Amino acid sequence: MGHIIAALSQKGGPGKSTIARAIATTYAKAGWDVKIADLDVKQSSTVDWHRRRLESQINPVIAVESFGTARRALKAAELHDLLVVDGAPHASEATVEVAKAADLVVIPTSLSLDDLNPAVLLARSLSEKHGIPVDRIAIALSKCGDSAVEIAEARDYLGQTPFHVLGGQIPEKTSFRRAQDAGLSIVECPHPSTRAKADEVVQAIIDRFEKIAL
Ligand SMILES: Nc1ncnc2c1ncn2[C@@H]1O[C@H](COP(=O)(O)OP(=O)(O)O)[C@@H](O)[C@H]1O
Ligand SMILES: [Mg+2]
Repeated sequence: MGHIIAALSQKGGPGKSTIARAIATTYAKAGWDVKIADLDVKQSSTVDWHRRRLESQINPVIAVESFGTARRALKAAELHDLLVVDGAPHASEATVEVAKAADLVVIPTSLSLDDLNPAVLLARSLSEKHGIPVDRIAIALSKCGDSAVEIAEARDYLGQTPFHVLGGQIPEKTSFRRAQDAGLSIVECPHPSTRAKADEVVQAIIDRFEKIAL
């Protein structure tokens, strides 16, 4: 059985696909056999991203497949070193099933209470209702603005929960959007200083994953 890292959220748009692609490309670059399971069957945005990546002949090549059910996606983990699950747009039964099987669940959130609260609610539901150990749930700050105060307040807020809050934060950047439009992940963004911010968060995810799963 291969390892599983899942990017999941309660609501749409916080950056699941963005983070899943960054994790997958980072491990693929390190020589792992990686697949992304895209559970958003309606939009299949990571399948589309993968097509753009193939058209532009970007290396490393990673496998991306769309799955209609969590069970089918999880089965694919047997065939790879790492399955990165790019979660369904809204939390569902599939979200719980994937979270139960994952070595690490990453929940991305932006900084407003409208975003932080659903992220914490999902983490609480996974741990309290579904018995997933809190140390397997990590929260990533995503689509962040420039305000250090806002970032610090979000960290304070999340610090009152039992969940691990990952180091670094992914800034909201046009160059990240454009990188993904071109089939790149945010850790392959051509602007070094912007890319470094993405690298920091992905490294925090890797550190956490390796600490609890390897
Ligand atoms: N850090 C970022 N900077 C700029 N745009 C971003 C960033 N993260 C995500 N986006 C954009 O926001 C939208 C939603 O992100 P996505 O990763 O697809 O979220 P989800 O998979 O959770 O719905 C996409 O258009 C994506 O390009
Ligand atoms: Mg998505």
